[in-house]
Amino acid sequence: MTKEGNEIRWGILGTGNIAGKFAEGLKAATGARLVAVGSRAQPSADAFADRFDAPNRHASYEALVADPEVDIIYISTPHPMHAENAILCLDHGKAVLCEKPFTLNAAEARTVVERAREKGVFLMEAMWTRCLPVLARTRELIRAGAIGEPRLLVADFAFRAGWNPESRLLNLALGGGGLLDVGVYCASLAHWVFEDAPEDVAGLAHLGETGVDEQAAWSLRFPGGRLASCVSGVRTSTKHEATLYGTEGSIRLPSHWWKGTRLILTAGKSTEEMDLPYPGNGYTCEADEAARCLRKGLLESPVIPWAETVATMETLDRIRALWGLAYPQERS
Ligand SMILES: NC(=O)c1ccc[n+]([C@@H]2O[C@H](COP(=O)([O-])OP(=O)(O)OC[C@H]3O[C@@H](n4cnc5c(N)ncnc54)[C@H](OP(=O)(O)O)[C@@H]3O)[C@@H](O)[C@H]2O)c1
Repeated sequence: MTKEGNEIRWGILGTGNIAGKFAEGLKAATGARLVAVGSRAQPSADAFADRFDAPNRHASYEALVADPEVDIIYISTPHPMHAENAILCLDHGKAVLCEKPFTLNAAEARTVVERAREKGVFLMEAMWTRCLPVLARTRELIRAGAIGEPRLLVADFAFRAGWNPESRLLNLALGGGGLLDVGVYCASLAHWVFEDAPEDVAGLAHLGETGVDEQAAWSLRFPGGRLASCVSGVRTSTKHEATLYGTEGSIRLPSHWWKGTRLILTAGKSTEEMDLPYPGNGYTCEADEAARCLRKGLLESPVIPWAETVATMETLDRIRALWGLAYPQERS
């Protein structure tokens, strides 16, 4: 898979906002090189490639996936394009790191995962927060029994975007709404800390003028009565905190937990604050994890396994169904 020893040669598909942050993060990743960029138009491919010093600049995604110098492609298009873009990459034998939410819905997620399995090509959801040291430490503490049995997760991630109905965040056709954009972080965290999928979901949303969930409050019940209570949104700012309460204590991930370095462990009467590293700009960690898997010849990352990615999309589908929120791509 990889050429020139251990070096991993990256391509970036889509040259928007997050693509730039990821490209920045790659600079600090171990043995990584950005070799190619693919955009729908030559000028944006050139501008991005100039900015990040990428030698190969392609005026179509098809040209990018045909580039023999690329080992793995990071997909950073709006959510409704993720499945099609990922399949294009996999069909050309390119490993994939695909932005969150992995796809628009669980059916698409299953299709993409099946294609990776069939083709024997590496695939990973770019749920970058999961790769941060603070979450790795959180899981270690949970598994070591530091807070007893985890019983309740309370997590929020909502922010106020400006009013632009055409924007990715508010436009229904571009997969707009808070649940898919940022609620996915909370849902993913719940699946991660409980190491399970919910048996029931409940929730309310305010669907605004453009039909997207501008803000929402929702809950998940996991087997054994474990609960997650979450808030997501794109028109109201919240604190961005997450706390996991157990039978013997709690782990608090203070603001902004999804890009955090600190955890506060309370066990009995003692409280301990721990500060964890934040390599590069945070996105560096997911690039390192994907590269580690590629070097080992893995098809999926044990940190973000396919089954959990699909289960998280299933949870988001179930929550959206409560609100009657379907995207145009889902209406036949
Ligand atoms: N991990 C994170 O922290 C994080 C943060 C923000 C966003 N995201 C995720 O990353 C994805 C992209 O978000 P973004 O904020 O970077 O979006 P963005 O700034 O709008 O960029 C999206 C890019 O996708 C390409 N694209 C292809 N078809 C498009 C279409 N029909 N309309 C618009 N753009 C299209 C464009 O690149 P070309 O013109 O070059 O083809 C565009 O620049 C989303 O799924 C989002 O959830 C993740």
